Amino acid sequence: MQIKPIALKNLIIKNNIFLAPIAGYTDLAFRTLSLDNGYGLCFTELVSAKGLVLNPTVNSILWGANGNYDRTAVQIFGQDPYYMRSACESKELEDYKIIDINMGCPVPKVFKNGEGSALLKDILKAESIISECVKSGKIITVKIRTGQKMGDDIASEFSKMAENAGASLITIHGRVREAYYTGEPDYNAIYKAKKSVNIPVIANGGIFTKEDANKMVNETGADGIMLARGGIANPFLVCELLGIKPNLTLKEFIITHLTESIKIHGDRKAGLEFKKFAPYYFKGMLGVSELKKQINYAKTAEETIRLIEENF
Ligand SMILES: Cc1cc2nc3c(=O)[nH]c(=O)nc-3n(C[C@H](O)[C@H](O)[C@H](O)COP(=O)(O)O)c2cc1C
Repeated sequence: MQIKPIALKNLIIKNNIFLAPIAGYTDLAFRTLSLDNGYGLCFTELVSAKGLVLNPTVNSILWGANGNYDRTAVQIFGQDPYYMRSACESKELEDYKIIDINMGCPVPKVFKNGEGSALLKDILKAESIISECVKSGKIITVKIRTGQKMGDDIASEFSKMAENAGASLITIHGRVREAYYTGEPDYNAIYKAKKSVNIPVIANGGIFTKEDANKMVNETGADGIMLARGGIANPFLVCELLGIKPNLTLKEFIITHLTESIKIHGDRKAGLEFKKFAPYYFKGMLGVSELKKQINYAKTAEETIRLIEENF
């Protein structure tokens, strides 16, 4: 794929490989390391707009990596245009230049409230949310899916609406809600959406290798790609795509991840958090089954670091 900058109003994102919002994974530690690996832009996990307005607290979920708010977007979700705009204008998000609206989350808790992917079936509501958020003066981007049910394709219609409502970029996860995270992405839906708008379109879904990335861009004509699980499983995939040498080995990356995580979450919680990452980091590796078992029993991140230093 061709590496190129992406212009969002007056902000230039240095390249077109983005790290996805991934709840429970793209915390401050992982985002910081990912930006060091070269991503143009990363996203916080989804944050409730209403929650932020009614109960304003800022924790590490909302901190920009390295205090860098030019390369970190915050993602908000909700179904009430008032709270969505208020969140964009809130003091808690004042450092952010880019606010991404989640219109793709399939999780029942979110969907049942008319939020996330539920908005894909209420285009008028979605439009009013986007246009209200745009009034905040922030750069507004939107992340969608291709529909609700197998065979749906709302991506073009929705992307045109988002552009007209003032969105500066749209990310399309090429799967419908009912597919959750499995199956081949719908390249054709993304291709048609890309052709129907003038704002940048970022394609997402199922990119785990350089070949997947090239296929996604070739099939869709998208302006860039967003890595999600592929970016966790291989933190250096972004370096490979950018044609740059990683600064760290995988072992160094993992230990730095744990060390940064301890600073943010404390030793115990960092150890627990890491258990989610270990299956991704060690997937398909031979001779690490005993190490994986021991990490699972480890009570703290310090203990995990020692295990990795001695056995990996
Ligand atoms: C555990 C998990 C958490 C996710 N959290 C979010 C989220 O907070 N916001 C969002 O827009 N998408 C979220 N996603 C969706 C991803 O951003 C991405 O669209 C999806 O995983 C498809 O990309 P992939 O096939 O490359 O993993 C999440 C996905 C997973 C697996």
